[in-house]
Amino acid sequence: MTRTQVPPPSMLGVCYYPEHWPEAMWNDDFARMKELGFSIIRMAEFAWAILEPEEGRYDFALFDRALDAAHAHGLKVILGTPTATPPAWLTQKYPEALNVTRDGVTLHHGMRQHTNHTSPIFLELCARITREMAAHFRSHPAVIGWQIDNELNCEISVYYSEADHAAFRLWLQAKYGTLEALNEAWGTVFWSQTYTDWQQVYLTRPTAAPGQPNPHLALDEKRFISDSTLAFAKRQADILRELVPHHWITTNGLFGHLDSHRLTEEQLDFFSYDSYPQFSTIGGDTEEDPLLDRNWSLTLSAVRSISPNFCIMEQQSGAGGWVNRMDMPSPRPGQMRLWTYQSIAHGADMVLYFRWRTATVGNEIYWHGIHDYDNRPNRRVREAAQIGQELGRIGERIAGKKNQASIAIVRDYDNEWDGEYDIWHGPFSWQSGKAWFKAMQRRHIPNDILYLRPTTTLAELLRYSVLVYPHPAIMREDTAHLLTDYVKAGGTLIFGCRTGYKDERGHCYMLPFPGQAAALTGITVDDFTRIKGTRKPVPIRWVSSPEENGNQALTRADEFHEVLRVEAEDVTVEAVYAGDYYEGQPAVTRRGLGEGEVWYFGAVFHEESAGRILDRLNIHSPAADWLRLPSTVELTLREGDGRTYAFLLNYANEPARITLTEPKEELLRGEVLSGECELAPYDVRILVL
Ligand code: GAL
Repeated sequence: MTRTQVPPPSMLGVCYYPEHWPEAMWNDDFARMKELGFSIIRMAEFAWAILEPEEGRYDFALFDRALDAAHAHGLKVILGTPTATPPAWLTQKYPEALNVTRDGVTLHHGMRQHTNHTSPIFLELCARITREMAAHFRSHPAVIGWQIDNELNCEISVYYSEADHAAFRLWLQAKYGTLEALNEAWGTVFWSQTYTDWQQVYLTRPTAAPGQPNPHLALDEKRFISDSTLAFAKRQADILRELVPHHWITTNGLFGHLDSHRLTEEQLDFFSYDSYPQFSTIGGDTEEDPLLDRNWSLTLSAVRSISPNFCIMEQQSGAGGWVNRMDMPSPRPGQMRLWTYQSIAHGADMVLYFRWRTATVGNEIYWHGIHDYDNRPNRRVREAAQIGQELGRIGERIAGKKNQASIAIVRDYDNEWDGEYDIWHGPFSWQSGKAWFKAMQRRHIPNDILYLRPTTTLAELLRYSVLVYPHPAIMREDTAHLLTDYVKAGGTLIFGCRTGYKDERGHCYMLPFPGQAAALTGITVDDFTRIKGTRKPVPIRWVSSPEENGNQALTRADEFHEVLRVEAEDVTVEAVYAGDYYEGQPAVTRRGLGEGEVWYFGAVFHEESAGRILDRLNIHSPAADWLRLPSTVELTLREGDGRTYAFLLNYANEPARITLTEPKEELLRGEVLSGECELAPYDVRILVL
């Protein structure tokens, strides 16, 4: 099957809900979209009750008219399959389609995503509406692509209906074959949990101490949810491939308990993401010096690890807010444009705003679109027009270009899912990933996320000169071998504490820490402690390097301390603990191996310690020779056709002074920049190298 792999280039558009507005408004809406430079709209993803008002009776008239009107204005359309919002008749007649919480509470009609992914009748009804829609709209000239469902696993990412328990048993039988093997994998010898009949086996259920299921079961549960969500989507993807092979298929993520890499590889042409950067400004961030909306670049990098070029199916275009939650400030003038270019700077080739006009009814009356209820042009509409004009000029040049980074933060699904429950490593990975991201952001070192998967090859790893794999508690033997090959072939690999001590079932290896990584790192862990309560963190003291002139700087070492023992002769100690009973003992080690090197950091990373390692590795911004930027400006690079495009994004509400020591063409304003220049608050520049 030929996949398009990349979204159509440089398309700007908007999500539009014809069913929400009087039909008399459609033509005016579409005409104004064209004036703004939009060329694509998404529709129908929540319209099941209109498309199939009663079981087996399909009515496409409203969308026929909407598609015809869109086509008359030269707009292209992405159709959503409406399976995230099943109609009332469906769940009334087939209550087994409903989802149930772990506590056994049935979720009912009235919101969305209240159904499961396993009930046979629900799967069948989803298949039918998908088939009918595809057959009906396959020849419409406006339609170019499909979105499966909407945000799989967004409102909820756990499922405990009867159908799910039954499907889980089948999944386990396929995976383990026998109850003996299941008992072994789940360590049921502990607390007499041994199963003697498959009917005793369930997904996690309420337990004596609330929320304390068997951890090995809890890990398998997430793998099962991912697999059943994949199967749910596949049923639709297969139908679409059969009936509309001339259209592309995508879906919008990125949510929990779903292997979005497999989803994309096996079913989609490319992945899409819904980007709402304002989410990271409303969380009462307790972090010092937070990156706020710039944090979204980390998630966009994760999206890029799935699809190097992707679509933003929903780009924030106003204040967010449901009736009773998620209330957000309005973007300041320029911020909506900044966020649009943030997406593009990270690999988006197609961007649709959410949404054309703010809904006047329902839960999302405060989730603002480009227009307010009054439908008058406002500053967001004017900003969209500016972006439309700009992308009309430059979009084609940028589309399809690949992001460039020589460092990646490594993640994997097993550790992510195990870490949701296991507080001895899960929270550390997020904290350390963030620390590295911040250190690299503020130093203008473009960085990627790399998901280590069973299919990952050495060549994929060797695309990066440095990999930071902060706390991979679960490490299989073959993963350790792959990582060793990476180092021997010239890569620099950096681990943090809690590495390598669990197998893929979540059993702890009867080996000295760091388990599978001990041979590679040339160290073991002599002693360790959680840093908590009365156990205060002590800093680490860096063993001075010649460049540091004997300045034995201290940096923070948070959350966990592992006291390292050097086992191999070629290991050097980079830092020691500066206090407590392990004063002077190794905290950070480095070992040259083959052409590369491996570091072990015995604690959780902080921005400062990540920065110090970057300094010791002599890693600087790839633009350091010709460009000086303040830390509030992000730098990303997209490359292709012999050109590199350097995106400069100013996240601050104040001007940023930048200095270019070589003149460069600037794309957005079509001018040459050199010397000292100013980037206005929230402004963007794209330099051509
Ligand atoms: C997304 C969703 C949209 C809309 C938006 C604002 O998660 O896909 O349908 O709900 O958020 O809440």
